[in-house]
Amino acid sequence: MLNKCLFPVAGYGTRFLPATKSMPKEMLPILDKPLVQYGVEEALSAGIRGIGFVTGRGKRAIEDHFDVSYELEDQVRGTNKESALVGIRELIEQCTFSYTRQIHMQGLGHAILCGRSLIGNEPFAVVLADDLCFGEGASVLGQLLEIFAEHRLSVVAIEEVPDERVHQYGVIAGEEVSKDLYRVSDMIEKPEQGTAPSNLAIIGRYILTPDIFEILQQTAPDTRGEIQITDALVQQAKQGKVLAYRFKGQRFDCGSLAGYVDATNFCYEELRSKGEK
Ligand code: UTP
Repeated sequence: MLNKCLFPVAGYGTRFLPATKSMPKEMLPILDKPLVQYGVEEALSAGIRGIGFVTGRGKRAIEDHFDVSYELEDQVRGTNKESALVGIRELIEQCTFSYTRQIHMQGLGHAILCGRSLIGNEPFAVVLADDLCFGEGASVLGQLLEIFAEHRLSVVAIEEVPDERVHQYGVIAGEEVSKDLYRVSDMIEKPEQGTAPSNLAIIGRYILTPDIFEILQQTAPDTRGEIQITDALVQQAKQGKVLAYRFKGQRFDCGSLAGYVDATNFCYEELRSKGEK
């Protein structure tokens, strides 16, 4: 139903310095697989094959990851290591990859606007690969797609966060229209302590209708000079055109050290319980 998924991967990843000095944050592995591969797998599992990356300086490793590596593949051919490349090879065969660059890192909204040339005039998904999601049943993107199919409006994934962490997120205000589904009336990016309208925080999975590009173009940068996707979504929300869905599953904020370690432990336990390594 959707053809394209945008991955904004241009951010500096300063919370992971020095690891991210010359390596993209999105290439950090959870066990033996980089974060960005989990994200692309999620898009493909939701039936989306057109993958667009908004990259920046120092992010070439992402392009190389989604390409063949003849020498390496030749080396492991016929050995017991060959199976480790099956998953990535399938992604390369089944998806198409396109790239554009964000020259100045002016925030997530700006990065999405930079991706306009890759998307065109159609609804699209956005995945922030540093939010690692494991859906219950369908993937989180798959769950959002089901809602989009019915309503044809922008849909954001939300989760309940503890009060003391609300100020780190974009938070929604809205009315619950059916179980776990909210019609959004307002959104506040990183609300000051005690001012949040709810503790329902937006996480890194979105489905956006293409009018968002025009809105982003009109959206002024915030005090830090960043164009926030939340500010653009507020404009759609004021017209009743944004839904928020409390997804079923787990999310790990792998842009933070604690979330990254939690995700690693979670995946390792899963692997051990399957007796695979
Ligand atoms: P973050 O808020 O995690 O920022 O961006 P960051 O720069 O990557 O990391 P820190 O805070 O310095 O550690 C969320 C997502 O938006 C992308 C990032 O790559 C990440 O996937 N992003 C952010 C851009 O593509 N461009 C930007 O200008 C900002």
